[in-house]
Amino acid sequence: MLLTDDAPAHGHHANPAFCRDIVDGLSSTPKATPPIWFYDRHGSELFEQITDLTEYYPTRTETALLAAHGADFASAVGAGRAVVEFGAGSARKTPHLLRAIDPAAYVPIDISGDFLRTSSAELAAAFPGLPVLPLVGDFNGPLTLPAAIDGLPRLGFFPGSTIGNMEPDAAVDLLRAMRRLLADDAMLLIGMDRIKDRDRLIAAYDDASGVTAAFNMNLVTRINRELDGDMPADGLIHRALWNDEKARIEMHLEAVRPLHFHVAGHCFHMETGETIHTESSHKYGERDRRLLLRAGGWEPVEEWTDPQELFSLILAKAS
Ligand code: AVI
Repeated sequence: MLLTDDAPAHGHHANPAFCRDIVDGLSSTPKATPPIWFYDRHGSELFEQITDLTEYYPTRTETALLAAHGADFASAVGAGRAVVEFGAGSARKTPHLLRAIDPAAYVPIDISGDFLRTSSAELAAAFPGLPVLPLVGDFNGPLTLPAAIDGLPRLGFFPGSTIGNMEPDAAVDLLRAMRRLLADDAMLLIGMDRIKDRDRLIAAYDDASGVTAAFNMNLVTRINRELDGDMPADGLIHRALWNDEKARIEMHLEAVRPLHFHVAGHCFHMETGETIHTESSHKYGERDRRLLLRAGGWEPVEEWTDPQELFSLILAKAS
């Protein structure tokens, strides 16, 4: 998962994009902050813990799909592609794909150089003959692929249903940018979480041991540390709710009493019950998945799901 942990403590040299996003987000009505800022070092560790929770089915389900369908990927994708992963490869997921399809090169893209170097070194050690060509950069912005993969057909890999953390317009923009980057004969293997029983969804984002609550609350700790904030952690609680109209789980931080606090020199106020919307995690129905891909310039060719139909892996080709 993306790490954005590069800001020192106490607000000195605070990351200006973090500062702007948080001040703007707390100034808007309703209050809402972008989910990318969860992932400082501790937030990334908490996310790793989330992926092991009994209630959090996506990671384990998608990993099992990758492990089970190697032969299908090999016949649908063929050997000799350059695999371009959006996000530093997960040691649990990526090896299944690489082993199955015998690629010509592997290009993981991540915004955190440190994280990318570590995960790339691990993958290179596990696949001795495979050129591993990490690319530090934000895949929401302009990127240039390494010249070493010029002329090779590409397979984009975007697991985890990370696409679901974006609003639909941003998700379409990203799919289109991937389509442009990967060029005409490209394919894309993407994970998408599915609409399911509400209680199961809520439990996945409000686990009994409180790890997801800690992940959400860690944003408050980070804001206080890096943006000279005094947000009262004991005045905010974690909330996970299902927004049926938008087919998404929302995470919020809800004020349990009237709050006054400061962040980066700005004053903020919250009424009891008012929330900061910190994340949306969209879930996709049958047609939603195909519609989103088509809107992004990708034609779905094959889909795999688990017996409980919790999660989908979809292979699409550039259209
Ligand atoms: C990274 N992303 C796909 C996770 C999700 O399920 O939306 C982030 C997460 N938030 C709470 N739990 C997990």
